[in-house]
This record gives sequence, structure tokens and C-alpha cells, in this order.
Amino acid sequence: MEYITLNNGIQIPATGFGVFRIPEGKDCVNAVLDAIESGHRMFDTAQGYWNESSVGEAIRISKIERQSLFLTTKIWMSRYEEADAYRSISESMEKLQTDYLDLVLLHQPVADYYSAYRALEKLYLDGKVRAIGVSNFSPAQLADLSLFHKITPAVNQIRLTPFLQEVPAEAVHRKYQVCMEAYAPLGAGDPELLTNPVLIAIGNKYGKSPAQIILRWLYQRQIITITKSTHIDRMRSNIALFDFALDAEDIGQISALNRQRDNPPAENPADYPEKMKSLMEREAYRFAK
Ligand SMILES: NC(=O)c1ccc[n+]([C@@H]2O[C@H](COP(=O)([O-])OP(=O)(O)OC[C@H]3O[C@@H](n4cnc5c(N)ncnc54)[C@H](OP(=O)(O)O)[C@@H]3O)[C@@H](O)[C@H]2O)c1
Repeated sequence: MEYITLNNGIQIPATGFGVFRIPEGKDCVNAVLDAIESGHRMFDTAQGYWNESSVGEAIRISKIERQSLFLTTKIWMSRYEEADAYRSISESMEKLQTDYLDLVLLHQPVADYYSAYRALEKLYLDGKVRAIGVSNFSPAQLADLSLFHKITPAVNQIRLTPFLQEVPAEAVHRKYQVCMEAYAPLGAGDPELLTNPVLIAIGNKYGKSPAQIILRWLYQRQIITITKSTHIDRMRSNIALFDFALDAEDIGQISALNRQRDNPPAENPADYPEKMKSLMEREAYRFAK
């Protein structure tokens, strides 16, 4: 396994296993046990997936050392009020049978996410969480949080595939030193993506599947990936990414698969919070005179 270093110096496995839509109970316990057996060490769950208890149960059964794992959960929007957000993480930790979490994210950028982010900062400063971050935040929302809080998010977990490459967003993430984490990198099993002729041809060069080409391409962009599978052979292949490297020609061909609109608006929305912040600072100066 290779690791990526987050902005506070902690290391996260470059690829991990997500349990979205795996039902609570034996399905989820077995999937996590198989994923551990396959070599996965990073697990991504959420309060809104309703299966934190099963992830915790699988970890307990596996007898794997807690320190060798990297556990992420996400706070659901209904729990964004500051005290409740803080409390919700104690509940998540109880379900996950752990006394600390490696990463906690705000699941969505809606409702009172400022309040919830303050709870994350407190959890971090209290030593209950090793890193904090967000999910589904636009570049503008990310810039806003980064500029107006002491602790910059370590991660923004967003949907990212060869058809949806988020290139302008990547520049904003780099500016604020927020690591991108790609969810649904296989397009949630999109057959059009997984049978794409360009990805198949590149895969043939290295004896790898289109899924492995996508995951390797993201790794070479230093983007963390999370995949889900209920098949152990796929779990194994989804982490067999570190024995080959894509060359510049491969990367050029994958870049050409992007279907995202590549004409960004004249004014980058991510600049807006910065503009507002400097306006506020100028106003404060004027009031002080
Ligand atoms: N933050 C958010 O809002 C958010 C949203 C969505 C997802 N996520 C996270 O990201 C994780 C992954 O996302 P996802 O499950 O939606 O999508 P995904 O990992 O891109 O795709 C999963 C689908 O692809 C299939 N698959 C897995 N490996 C494969 C392979 N090597 N070859 C062919 N097919 C393969 C799986 O089928 P089988 O199970 O049948 O193998 C499943 O149907 C989630 O579990 C969750 O942790 C986060």
C-alpha cells in the first residue's frame, strides 16, 4: 500500500474501501472482513449509511490492530448543530468500537455547516479525531471554510472519474492544501466507463483492468480513491495499483475522456470568499480610523 500525506502530516492509504449501500448486518460485516483479507486498510463509512455498527463489528471480529487501520466517517446534516455534531461523533465511535477516528467529514455542504465544522475543530483539538474535512464541497465553499477557520480541511471527498475530472477544482484544492478524495471513481459501476475502449487499450499494455487504470490515474494525480465491491476478487484488484505506472501518453489519452465543461465562467467562483475576506479587512481598517 502507498500513502498520501495530508496537510497536518498524517498519512492516509492512497486507496480504500467504502460501504455505501451495503446493508447493515451480515452483508456489511462480511464485505469489510473480505476487504481486510484483501489488504484494504482504509474504510469509509458515514452516519447516513446506517452501517457503522457493522463496520465496527467486522473490525472486532478480524482482530486486526486498530492502529493499522484508517477509519473515516461523516456527519449527517441533521446533526450539524455544534453540540449535536460533537455528540454524534461519540455515538459513531461507539458503533465503530473505537476511541478515536482517523478522519471525520461533513457529508454535505448544506444547512448549518459552519456550526458543524466548529464541532469538527473541537474534536480535532480534543484529540478524538486525527484529521477533519468535508465532502461534496464546491471550490467556493472549500475556499470559504479554509479562509474563515483556524483548521483547514485536510480532505474534500467528491465524485471524480475520467468522465468528470474536476481539473479547475484541483487547482483550488492545491492552493488551500486540501487533498482530493475521489468517491465513486468507477462511476458507481458505470458500464460505459468500465468498458471504455481507451481504458481497455491502456490496460492491455500493463495487464490491468480499466478499473485499475482509473485508480492508478487518480493515484498519479495524488488523489485518494475509495471503491466499493462485494466481490473479493474485485477488492483485491482494486488495490493492486502500485506495481506499474502510466506514462505521459496514457495520461494524455485519459485527460481527453473528460466530459466536464472546460469553459469555466469568466470569474472563478472560488475567488469570491477571498474577495469578501479582503473587503471585510479593508472595511475593518476604515472603521478603525
Ligand atoms: N461522500 C459522498 O457523498 C459519497 C457518495 C457516494 C459514494 N461515496 C463513497 O465512495 C465509495 C465508492 O462509491 P460507489 O460504491 O458509489 O462507487 P464505485 O466504487 O465507483 O463503484 C462501485 C460499483 O462498481 C462495481 N465494481 C467495484 N469494483 C469493480 C471492478 N474492479 N470492476 C468492475 N466493477 C467493479 C461494484 O460492484 P460489486 O459490488 O458487485 O463488485 C459496484 O457496483 C462508497 O462506498 C462510499 O464510501 C461517498
